[in-house]
Amino acid sequence: MTMDGSSLTAMTSETMRPELPPRPPMFAPGAVMIEKPTMADITAAEWRVLEAQRAVHDCGRQAKAVVDLMRVASADPSFGYAISMYAHGLQAATLAIQDGRDEEFVVVCLLHDIGFTIAGPSHGEFSASLLRPYISERNRWVLEMHQLFGFPHMSEHPEVTVDERERFRGHPHFAATADFVARYDQNAVDPRIPVIGLEAFEPMVHRLFAKAPLRRFQPGLD
Ligand SMILES: [Fe+2]
Ligand SMILES: [Fe+2]
Repeated sequence: MTMDGSSLTAMTSETMRPELPPRPPMFAPGAVMIEKPTMADITAAEWRVLEAQRAVHDCGRQAKAVVDLMRVASADPSFGYAISMYAHGLQAATLAIQDGRDEEFVVVCLLHDIGFTIAGPSHGEFSASLLRPYISERNRWVLEMHQLFGFPHMSEHPEVTVDERERFRGHPHFAATADFVARYDQNAVDPRIPVIGLEAFEPMVHRLFAKAPLRRFQPGLD
């Protein structure tokens, strides 16, 4: 059961630490800390400094964080499949390489379930959102819809009674998504298939996230 607002307020006053949080270290010598209490107080000149510093700060950091997230999952136990979700990603990407697919698609395969645990029921939207600025609209749609397109491969699943993907029959990326699930997802839970190690994929992940964003995030516009 969740706590109501007054209980949370009481808990906060009991557990509030008397000391202020320490200033974080800066990412590079000479980088400037903008000490304003609200974002509304930050001036145009300061925003320019922040944006310039962020570009340097972020360089390579997103890709490293993504690879780290995969690596952390390498120790996860299985919930039931004969391979872990970490190995499932490696297996999907390995199969894509063996089929001669391009690097963007290989990384899409590698990361398609990266949100499997932390985003659970919406993990397709999670990977689609993560990769969206750097991949084609087709690959983004594949990621977003791959859960739903898995249904035809789960005919014995007690909760799958309707082929939901039929609602999207005729969509320009229907075939690509059906192909992804058939060739690189539903069959990539086989412990007998050897996989390429994460280290081999790491430079590919870095190259993808180093691309200039194809699309900026525009809430509500698409
Ligand atoms: Fe998935
Ligand atoms: Fe998957």
